[in-house]
Amino acid sequence: MQASQKKVVQYLSEAQAAEHTLIRMLQSQIAMTPRGAYRTALEQHLRQTRDHADRVGERLQQLGQNGNPITAVVGAVESVVGQALAFGKAPIDLLRGSGGEEKVLKNAKDAYASEAREIATYTALERLASAVGDDETAELAASILADEEKMLQRVLREIPKLTDAVVRAEVKGNSSFDVRTTGAADAVRSAGEAAMDTARSTTARAKRTSRQARKVPGVAQVEGQIKGAVASEGDLAIKRYDELTADEIIAKLSDLSQIDLAKVDSYERKNQNRTTVLSRITSLRGDEPWAGYDELTADEVQAVLSEGDDDRAQQVRDYERTHKNRVGVLKAAERELSNA
Ligand SMILES: [Fe+2]
Repeated sequence: MQASQKKVVQYLSEAQAAEHTLIRMLQSQIAMTPRGAYRTALEQHLRQTRDHADRVGERLQQLGQNGNPITAVVGAVESVVGQALAFGKAPIDLLRGSGGEEKVLKNAKDAYASEAREIATYTALERLASAVGDDETAELAASILADEEKMLQRVLREIPKLTDAVVRAEVKGNSSFDVRTTGAADAVRSAGEAAMDTARSTTARAKRTSRQARKVPGVAQVEGQIKGAVASEGDLAIKRYDELTADEIIAKLSDLSQIDLAKVDSYERKNQNRTTVLSRITSLRGDEPWAGYDELTADEVQAVLSEGDDDRAQQVRDYERTHKNRVGVLKAAERELSNA
C-alpha cells in the first residue's frame, strides 16, 4: 500500500473508533435524559452516528481494510440492553430523582466536546484525502463534517435551556427531572408492553428481545431497579406490601426473581427504608447460576441440567436452596451430581 493510502486508512480508522465511542456515549446519555427536545436531538444524532460509522467502515473496506463490525452488534441489542446497562452506571441519586438536571447538563457539555473533536478529526481527514487525491474519501469526510457541525450547534443551543432547568431545580426548588421519562425507563417500559401484547405479530420478536436482554448479566437487576424506583405498591411481586411487617416481607423474599428483588429494593429504599429488609435483599441478589435463570420454569431448569454440566448443577443446588427451593429442581441437581 502506498504511503498516502496508508495515512488515509489511519485517519479513517481513527474516525471510525471515534464514532463507535460516540454511539456508546449517546446511548448512555439517552438512558438518563428525560423526554424532550434535547433527548430527541440525541436520538437523531445516535442514528446519524451509526450511519457515519457504517459509511466510514464501507470506505475502509473499499480501501482493502476490514471494517470493525461492532456497530451491528451494538445496534441489535440497543433498545433494552444498551439503555438499561447504560442506566446502571448512573449515580444512585438519579434513581431517586435528584440531581438529574445537573447530570443532563454535564452530559451535554461532554457531548459538545465530543462533537468538537469529531469535527477536528473529519477536518483533518478531508484535508489529507484532498491533498493525496482521494476524492471519494474527501467527499465522505465533508458530508459527515456537515452533520457534526449541525449537531455541535444544536447541543450549544440546548445548553442555556438545560441550565435554566438546573436553576429551577436547585435554586428555586422546583425539580422537573422525572426518572419515569428517561430513555432507560421508556426502553424498559416498551419492551414490557410489547412482551405483554400477545395479539400482535411483532410480539414474539419483542418478547425474545426482552428475554435475551435479561440474559445479559446485570440487565435484570437494572430493569428491576428502574421499575422499582417508579413502582407503586400494586406493581410489586409481594401482595399488600405496605401492610406487611419487615419479618413478613423477609419470609417472602426468597421466592422472588432477581428482577422482582431489585424492584422491591428500590421501592423499600424510597419508602420505609428498613435495614433488615434491605440486607436480606442484598444477601439474595445477584448470584443466579446463569443470567435469566429466575425466569425459567422448573422443567426448563431441569432440561438445562440434563446437559450434564456438574459446575452448573452445583450452582443450581446452592442457589435453589437459598431461593425458591423447588423440590423437582433440587432432585435433578442432586441426580446430576451423584452421576458425576
Ligand atoms: Fe459522527
